[in-house]
Amino acid sequence: MDFLIAHVSDLHVGSAEFMPEKLESCIDEVNDLSPDLVALTGDLTSSGFEREYKQAKAYVDKFKAKTIVIPGNHDTRSTGYIYFEEYFGEGNQVVDLGNVTVVGVDSTLPDNDEGYLGRSRYLWLNKSLSRVEEKDYQIVLVHHHLIPVPGTGMERNELIDAGDVLATLVANKVNLALCGHRHVPYTWQLENLMVITSGTACTGYVRARISQAYFIISLKDKSMKLTLKEVGGKEKMIRNIKY
Ligand SMILES: [Fe+2]
Ligand SMILES: [Fe+2]
Repeated sequence: MDFLIAHVSDLHVGSAEFMPEKLESCIDEVNDLSPDLVALTGDLTSSGFEREYKQAKAYVDKFKAKTIVIPGNHDTRSTGYIYFEEYFGEGNQVVDLGNVTVVGVDSTLPDNDEGYLGRSRYLWLNKSLSRVEEKDYQIVLVHHHLIPVPGTGMERNELIDAGDVLATLVANKVNLALCGHRHVPYTWQLENLMVITSGTACTGYVRARISQAYFIISLKDKSMKLTLKEVGGKEKMIRNIKY
């Protein structure tokens, strides 16, 4: 199998720091790659307002590849979760893409920056993640980071129940967890699970010497290659794992 993913996150359309020219460049670059999937891991809007959702949806529609979108804490502000469903559908979703199964999970709490899944979602994840064939890749999308990200100051807003969620993913042999939220690109490997925290693709909400960026993830039968791509800039190989 050969499967290419662009992991793009934290657009924050409507915020003072939103950089539309970066998002347009990101979309063009991703379209040139012709990935099998564009995974968008939340914070598409700034405050969950409908005008922001309209704008964000128009941008997301410019990706030519299949997109899967989950909400972030900013999207559920101002009861924006109502608009999320209207514009992007159910946050909790299982998508069968042949050799790859993607499970999107909504970790948001209304008008709260913390993230939480809770026991009923672990049970739902357990049910959704039962592997059909050993060769399949299983990918989970969740906005809040599962493991602390270096260089982000005081640790906060990690999933409240990150330990239980990680245990659920590892027990179900999930290969990849794609997260957003901290605007600092980083990867952690925990047992056979690769956890990727994407940066922000198109906002000025970044820390020193961190550019607007996204991840390119290449899955082959026995390998996983992670490349960090600066929007409009260079790319850097982060990991090349052989199984
Ligand atoms: Fe964000
Ligand atoms: Fe966030």
